[in-house]
Amino acid sequence: MQIDRAALIRAAFEARRFAYTPYSHFQVGAALLAEDGRVFTGCNIENASFSPTICAERAALAKAVSEGVRRFAAIAVVGSREGETNTLVTSPCGVCRQALYEFGGDNLLVIMAKSETDYEELPLGRLLPLGFGPKNLE
Ligand code: THU
Repeated sequence: MQIDRAALIRAAFEARRFAYTPYSHFQVGAALLAEDGRVFTGCNIENASFSPTICAERAALAKAVSEGVRRFAAIAVVGSREGETNTLVTSPCGVCRQALYEFGGDNLLVIMAKSETDYEELPLGRLLPLGFGPKNLE
């Protein structure tokens, strides 16, 4: 499918505005493009007890899957400290790579953006080589 990268990155920046980050002040937004064209967004949501913190990517994934959507083409991720602009791209953490692998597999395109025009992209299979997924349990 045709992927409008700028639009997906813009959606991730919009979602980032809702990041709840009183502890790290590092704000992340994600926009997950389903194969049916729908976009599910998420932000990171921190917690005083720390470990219940959920990353933006998994927030977006939970929204999609809990609405019956399981097939995805791409995800855009943006992150930076509150009030700052990105110097490095934010790449999904290890837990998020695994969570996305469950539904996106090797081909999910991961777009890690500093702006709508400045981004790096890799298929998930490059970020999580030899990923363990549903096929391993067949
Ligand atoms: N975080 C994400 O939301 N996604 C990532 O891919 C990297 C890390 C969040 C978790 C935590 O709220 C903050 O960024 C600092 O680690």
